[in-house]
Amino acid sequence: MADPRAVPVIAIDGPSASGKGTIAQRVAASLGFHYLDSGAIYRVAALAARRAGADLRDGEAVANLARRLPLAFAGERVFLAGDDVTDEIRSEAMSAAASVVAALPPVREALLERQRAFRESPGLVADGRDMASVVFPDAVLKVFLTASAEVRAERRYKQLMGKGLSVSLAAILQDLRTRDDRDTRRAVAPLRALTPEAVLDSEGRTIEEVVAIVLDRYRRALQ
Ligand code: CDP
Repeated sequence: MADPRAVPVIAIDGPSASGKGTIAQRVAASLGFHYLDSGAIYRVAALAARRAGADLRDGEAVANLARRLPLAFAGERVFLAGDDVTDEIRSEAMSAAASVVAALPPVREALLERQRAFRESPGLVADGRDMASVVFPDAVLKVFLTASAEVRAERRYKQLMGKGLSVSLAAILQDLRTRDDRDTRRAVAPLRALTPEAVLDSEGRTIEEVVAIVLDRYRRALQ
């Protein structure tokens, strides 16, 4: 097998609202690496299934759509068949739908190569649930970013309020717990830290501090 350091991958996994996206993007920018938001791919797959009127629990039907998903990223925007779906895929309804289709093994299989194709020189920072365990098992650095459900719910609450959406903190907490539960209990690629050393608790730390820790771990991993 080729040297994993030739095109190094930093895998950042963790539960919803753990800050994976923000941290991964900043780490990528700081190293000049590419960035993969694997959750966005599951979200677009769920949206495509919904638009096609497919049953979200029908693994084969959703996998068929996922295999030929007309998906494109352009900077921060995400497109489905040429349609800008960036905001639509972030709705709470699509978050729940993504977590449902992501539990189907044929769907995960159908999206595997598409995710691996993001690995391009000079390197990749990939964020998701199974970046370290399944998609990039040879990642040079594996980070499991977490924080308590309460802290994560509070962050998501502030984010949504900032967008002018009226939401209840209790409902967000409940929704996070449901998704955590589904993501951790599913049979394929469940959400979990591979090793205790991978865990990085973001509670009580600023974004800058967490980014600095990831970059420091990466430098050590390269030694
Ligand atoms: O931003 P948030 O963490 O809430 O969600 P996301 O990373 O966009 O992922 C949306 C959903 O896709 C999650 O609830 C997971 O069920 C699923 N997912 C997954 O199963 N595997 C991944 N690598 C990424 C996301």
